[in-house]
Amino acid sequence: MTEAILLVGGKGTRLRPLTVRTPKPMVPAAGVPFLAHQLARARAAGVEHVVLATSYLAEVFEPYFGDGSDLGLHLEYVTEVEPLGTGGAIRNVASHLTSGPDEPVLIFNGDILTGLDIRALVDTHTTSGADVSLHLTRVDDPRAFGLVPTDDTGRVTAFLEKPQTPEEIVTDQINAGAYVFRRSVIDSIPHDRPVSVERETFPGLLSDDAHLQGMVDSTYWLDLGTPQAFVRGSADLVTGRAPSPAVPGRRGERLVLEGAGIAADAKLSGGTVVCDGARVGAGARVHGSTVLADAVIADGADVRDSLIGEGAYIGERTLLDGAVIGDGAHIGADNELLEGVRIWCDARIGDGAVRFSSDQ
Ligand code: GDD
Ligand code: MG
Repeated sequence: MTEAILLVGGKGTRLRPLTVRTPKPMVPAAGVPFLAHQLARARAAGVEHVVLATSYLAEVFEPYFGDGSDLGLHLEYVTEVEPLGTGGAIRNVASHLTSGPDEPVLIFNGDILTGLDIRALVDTHTTSGADVSLHLTRVDDPRAFGLVPTDDTGRVTAFLEKPQTPEEIVTDQINAGAYVFRRSVIDSIPHDRPVSVERETFPGLLSDDAHLQGMVDSTYWLDLGTPQAFVRGSADLVTGRAPSPAVPGRRGERLVLEGAGIAADAKLSGGTVVCDGARVGAGARVHGSTVLADAVIADGADVRDSLIGEGAYIGERTLLDGAVIGDGAHIGADNELLEGVRIWCDARIGDGAVRFSSDQ
C-alpha cells in the first residue's frame, strides 16, 4: 500500500496574520483545518501511512490529529530542529518509511487544494518506470511557481523554480505540488542540511539523466498560499466546486457549524462558512467568506470574500471586501476595509476610522 509524506513545515509568510498563531495547514477551510481535507483525500485514494514533516509551530498538529486512527490512517510526526527546506524535509523523514527501495512514495505540498486523481499519478509513475513523477497543471501566470516543460511523451526536460527573466518562461505547465518518488531517490537526498527539492534535487536529477515524468491534469487546483486564494479555496469546498470528503456538512451556499448563531434575517452566500461559537447579527450579509470560531459580525455589516480570524469583532454596518482580519482584532462600526487589507491579530480600529469613500 502506498505511503505518503506531507510537507507542512513552511512559515506561511504570505498568509500572515492568519499564520502568526497557526501554521498554514491548520488554518480552517470549510470549518476544519485545511490539512484534514488533504488527509481525507489521501485516505480515499488508498493511502494508509502518512508522515508529516513539520517545522514551524510543529507542536499543534499532533494534539489535533493524534495517531490518525479517527481518519483510518497511521500518522507520524517528524519535526525539524531547523527548517530543512522541502528536499531536506523529505530526506529527514526517510527512516519512518516502510516502502522498499523501488516502491513508490507519495509526497504532497501541504497547501494545495486539488481534485487530482492520486491513483492515476501512481499508475503513471509505475507504467512509465520513472524515478520521480510530478502532477503538473496549467496556469495563466506561472511566475510564482516551478515551471516544468515536458517532451511529447510527458518526460520532464527542465525544472525552473520561480523564473526571474522572461526568457525562462518557457511553458505554462507548473509543478502542482504532488509527486511520486521512487523510495531510493528519497534516500539519495543529502541529509542534515537544508535542501530545496525544487531548486536542487529536481535540476540535479535531470542533469544526472534521471527519468522525471510529468502528468498534466487540469482538474480543480489551487495553491492556498495567499489570503485571497485561501478564502476562495474554503468557499469552493463549501459549494462543492473543490472535492473533499472532510467537509463537515452538506455542500451549498453556506456552511454553519454547530454552536454558531445566525440572525434570522442575516444572508450567508457564496460558500461562506461560519465556525463554532461565531455570531452573525441582524441584517448582516456575508458572501464567499470564512468566519472563524467565536468571531462576531455585528448587525448590518457587509462582508465579502474576506477571512475573519478567531474571536475577531466586525462592527455594525462595517464593509469588508477582500480583507483579512487577524485573530482577536476589533473593528469598530462604519468602517470600510477593502481589497488586500490585513489587520493584525488583536489590533483595534475605532468607529468610522477607515473609509475608501467620502460619504460618512
Ligand atoms: N517540513 C518543512 N520544512 N516543510 C516545508 C519547508 C521546510 O523547511 N519549507 C516549505 N515547506 C512546505 C510548506 O509548508 C508547503 O507545504 C510546501 O513545503 C511548499 O512550500 P511553499 O512555501 O508553499 O512553496 P511555494 O508555494 O512557493 O512553491 C511550491 O509549490 C508550488 C505549487 O503550489 C513549489 O513546490 C513550486 O514548484 C510549486 O509550483
Ligand atoms: Mg505554496
